[in-house]
Amino acid sequence: AAVGGIAGEVPDMNKRNIMNLILLGGVATPATGMLGAYAVFFVPKSAGGGAGGQVAKDALGNDVKSNAWLATHAKGDHSLVQGLKGDPTYLVVTPEGTIENYGINAVCTHLGCVVPWVAQLGQQQQQQQQQWYQQAENKFKCPCHGSQYDATGKKIRGPAPLSLALAHANVDAADNVVLSTWSETDFRTDEAPWWK
Ligand code: FES
Repeated sequence: AAVGGIAGEVPDMNKRNIMNLILLGGVATPATGMLGAYAVFFVPKSAGGGAGGQVAKDALGNDVKSNAWLATHAKGDHSLVQGLKGDPTYLVVTPEGTIENYGINAVCTHLGCVVPWVAQLGQQQQQQQQQWYQQAENKFKCPCHGSQYDATGKKIRGPAPLSLALAHANVDAADNVVLSTWSETDFRTDEAPWWK
């Protein structure tokens, strides 16, 4: 129980700043777009995340649409969106090329750093970048104190005490990716969710 408290103590603003860096780092955006993104991310968060869920937002604050997302994110991709309570959350693309039915909260369960996804590189890249290859393992690796999580967000190395939190991810009739609270058993550990 203490762990959730610790993660909760990381100021929201700080988490948002980190998320801005991560999200905007991967997007070629004109300066005006950057300003727009900052405006969106610093707007006080809504009371979203209730029973009906909340549409995931991209780096520019726009609703995430399933078809557009899948057109630009390959199978196996793990990329960040703004999720429930403003938390950075990974959407996962399944091997079949659909949006996985769960999202993974990127906030490390140790002390709240945002955990980057470290993807497996292709054959050519492996040869060109031997050093990179040694670090590329299809895991989440926390840069702060070295915790690791597998592709589902399950803890595989401490000091993090717990797996990354889950959220349901569904596509609604308007093609929006909707995140909602995961209150059922954690399928990775068969335990009750610690984040409830
Ligand atoms: Fe992630 Fe410490 S905050 S390992």
